[in-house]
Amino acid sequence: MGLSSVETAPCIRLALRPQVPPTPYTFTFNPRRGIIRVTLKTVCSPGRQRLKLPAPTLLEKTNRMFRALKQRATFIKQFTTRFETTGSLVPSSRFLAKSITRYLRERAESPIRVLECGPGTGAFTNRIVRLLQPGDTYHLVELNERFVQTLKRRFEEEPHWQAVAKTAQIFETPLQEFQPAEKYDFIISGLPHVNFPPALLEQMTATYVRMLKPGGMFSYFEYMCVLRIRKSISLFGARQRMRKVNSILQDFCNKYRIGRDSVWMNFPPAWVQHLNSPGDD
Ligand SMILES: C[S@@+](CC[C@H](N)C(=O)[O-])C[C@H]1O[C@@H](n2cnc3c(N)ncnc32)[C@H](O)[C@@H]1O
Repeated sequence: MGLSSVETAPCIRLALRPQVPPTPYTFTFNPRRGIIRVTLKTVCSPGRQRLKLPAPTLLEKTNRMFRALKQRATFIKQFTTRFETTGSLVPSSRFLAKSITRYLRERAESPIRVLECGPGTGAFTNRIVRLLQPGDTYHLVELNERFVQTLKRRFEEEPHWQAVAKTAQIFETPLQEFQPAEKYDFIISGLPHVNFPPALLEQMTATYVRMLKPGGMFSYFEYMCVLRIRKSISLFGARQRMRKVNSILQDFCNKYRIGRDSVWMNFPPAWVQHLNSPGDD
């Protein structure tokens, strides 16, 4: 029949096409209810190791929830005291984190260099740490010391973070002053670009290009329509600034953009821009 394994009632589990392992699907047939269920297995690329953790206990789940609430409280406090650099009221959602790390997920097996700009309390970091492998380099640049404390604590306490703690290095400095020794394969930025003065934004975009390896990927996000809304409600001077910021980001995207994702499951909804260094920078 060409079937590799058959379990008897109540469920018959059939692994089809054993000659082309591994099949990404599991077919489960329940004869009593006449149901066939097709499940898509999570497939890892060869060589990628997934950290297998035991299911969390109730205490661990409670701790995790408590930590997430604490991170939110930290974020809100930083938003009220340092609005210009914090840029949002709450951390990004996991949907935004998934979208912004889309290309990192398709990484090569060989060691890579990753830079995260403005990690805050670690919304994107929490996903990045799951995509890293031994031998990779991971740098985080964050200027807010309160966020740096949170990140350090997470690298000490959370299992997926602990697994790459030796690979990761946090730099408590503004990105525009950061001087890495080498370029990066991936740059993921959570910086609030629309809050920056045009001269600083120009400096930032030049910094990204300078730090990216030829062929490297750069991903950042912006809240949907925020520029248009702020342009229409701002007074003259602020409107001029928004117009300039808009044109810098537009030029940057026109030059290097390869795709844009819309993420509705975020507060506020956001666009994720994916840019590719041309290779002859
Ligand atoms: C919008 S928050 C994003 C935080 C996190 N990535 C997220 O999505 O939840 C912006 C972050 O960028 C940091 N930041 C702002 N300006 C920066 C700069 N010039 N250099 C480094 N970090 C900066 C802020 O402190 C903050 O953590």
